[in-house]
Amino acid sequence: MKSKGRFNSEWISSLKSAISLVEIVGENVELRKTGNRFMGRCPFHGDRSPSFSVNPEFYYCFGCKETGDAISFQMKLHGLSFEEACEDLAEKAKIPLPEGSSLTSEEERALYLKRQRVQKAARLNYFASLNYYHQNLVRGSGSPMFEEAREYLKKRGITSATIEKFQVGVAGPGYEGLTRFLMDAKAPLDLARDFGLIRASQKQAGDYDFFRERLLFPLIDLRGRVTGFGGRIMPSADARSQEVKLPKYLNSAESELFQKSKFLYGLYQAKLAIRETELAVVVEGYFDVISLHQAGIENAVAPCGTSLTEDHLKTLGRLAKKIIVFFDQDEAGITATQKSMEMALRGGVLLYGIRFESKLDPDEFLLEDPKGNLEKLKSWIEGARPLLDSSIERIFSESENDLEARSQAIKTAVGWLKSFNDPVGRSVRVSQLVERWRVPREALGALAPEGAGARPSSAQSKYQERGGGQSVGNVRTRSIAVPSGMRRMPISPADRQLLQFFVKVNRYGKFFLLARQEMHEKNTLSDLFDDTEVRQWVRGLVEDPAGIQRLTHAPESAIQGEVSQELRSVIMEGLLQEEVPGEEQVLGGLLKRAVFRAWVRFSHELKAEMLAADSRQDIEKFKELSEQFLDLQRKLKEFEDSYVSGKTD
Ligand code: GTP
Ligand code: MN
Repeated sequence: MKSKGRFNSEWISSLKSAISLVEIVGENVELRKTGNRFMGRCPFHGDRSPSFSVNPEFYYCFGCKETGDAISFQMKLHGLSFEEACEDLAEKAKIPLPEGSSLTSEEERALYLKRQRVQKAARLNYFASLNYYHQNLVRGSGSPMFEEAREYLKKRGITSATIEKFQVGVAGPGYEGLTRFLMDAKAPLDLARDFGLIRASQKQAGDYDFFRERLLFPLIDLRGRVTGFGGRIMPSADARSQEVKLPKYLNSAESELFQKSKFLYGLYQAKLAIRETELAVVVEGYFDVISLHQAGIENAVAPCGTSLTEDHLKTLGRLAKKIIVFFDQDEAGITATQKSMEMALRGGVLLYGIRFESKLDPDEFLLEDPKGNLEKLKSWIEGARPLLDSSIERIFSESENDLEARSQAIKTAVGWLKSFNDPVGRSVRVSQLVERWRVPREALGALAPEGAGARPSSAQSKYQERGGGQSVGNVRTRSIAVPSGMRRMPISPADRQLLQFFVKVNRYGKFFLLARQEMHEKNTLSDLFDDTEVRQWVRGLVEDPAGIQRLTHAPESAIQGEVSQELRSVIMEGLLQEEVPGEEQVLGGLLKRAVFRAWVRFSHELKAEMLAADSRQDIEKFKELSEQFLDLQRKLKEFEDSYVSGKTD
């Protein structure tokens, strides 16, 4: 089993028994009880009819085959890491994190306290956001600026539903509005200082508010924590600040809670839509995010004024298959788009781009013609193409009649392709350069296709190398890499059925043990199955002292690791099957056949040993084996007559 860091398996099982998977799933999926399990529409793919099944131990989708336990549900649905998912569930279940109970060293204790502080800071931010800034905006009367903010948002077409959804707020012009509010509430001011809500005054005793005269967008992370704020200058304040121009946007200082290079604005609100559409739309600014959401494009997110980073891609890659970059079409936006594309290529990821035929930013564009332009936006998103392809096309068609420009274009394209960390994706584009754009092979250098000095490509996605579990790299390359658990032959219907009985050990285990007694003593239970992978899986399970127990108590853990998709679904579907009257008879027939097949296989092995002994001229051994073999043939004949009535296959 993989190491789970600070969470040991004991703690994990106590966590699992403290929570209800049905409840956890039920928070996000409407579930209905059918039989001894619950069914709902799968949150992991565009599910029309309910194919998502949940029982107390695990969930399984009959459609997309997604399966796992409460921890993996939180991870996949919310795009969290294993640790984060555990922390969240522990908080829900109100059970202490492992450090709390088993602090061994000073260092661990310090780490524990630091984590507690970060969590408290997030709650403090939430408190300030909801009860102060947001209240100011929704119904505050303490300053004319509150009214100005309401008017301003209205003018920009932002509805109160959107204000609620993003918990938008406003900070007035006073220096101690929030400071007083926190003091009255007896909130921990040291935390407020350390995490950037207030600052200690240089000139006099006391603190002052960090954000003033700004619209505030709380920065909510995937787990719903308010990590900080992004503040836009209020128009009246902007107009007054002629000499010393105030920055248009101001973000909370970086802290352990908020890191600009990792954070994506709107992701908390967008995650379900991203999951469902398998698509994320990355725009430039806060206003773009909220207007797109308001218009129904709910998979929009934005970095906080930075270009995209590897961390951003990693986060998005856990939720989306496709990432569209939709930055403004000004110089800064175009440069940022290209930088992002190049960064992603190095990680083996293709970013997508759209044809956005407007100088406006998405927010202004929507406001210009809410209905018509929304339709345009949607169709552009629909038609998104890999930026790499549109960029190659652009630089080549722009250099049609200019040799120098053409040679620059070739160099640029070769540079992109060289850095593209996906061998297959690279090679199809190299062919295209040769065929469509008539790039001479010599110009391709090391990129030249087979026959023209090709190099072996052992490139692997950068994100994969880091072993970060589900990462962008995995998502991107899934369709081109040969999956580790790929099978050559489907599992036969007989094995399939038998296995589906086998996994319900509690109910049917005894029948398998009886069948075991009818096999040769050298055989094990796994020899009841024909399929190699199935046999291997069953063997692993029965050889592990805790294996069968695991299968009955935490079935999803019994199918983790190197199990093919097909085997996994046979097992999961077996576990979910309802009891059918008369099943024992079906099982009886299957087992008889299986025992027979095991004997047949055994006789083949015997025969091979016989032949080997013969060729070694080991007469003694040969005689011994051939007696056994003849015995076995008689036995098989009997079997055949009584059980299988002549049919062996
Ligand atoms: P509006 O002009 O109100 O529509 O906002 P916008 O989001 O369209 O702003 P703009 O296109 O000017 O900038 C895009 C994003 O860049 C913003 O949402 C911010 O995240 C960031 N940004 C812009 N100006 C500043 C600044 O002065 N400081 C910082 N730190 N970030 C900025
Ligand atoms: Mn704007």
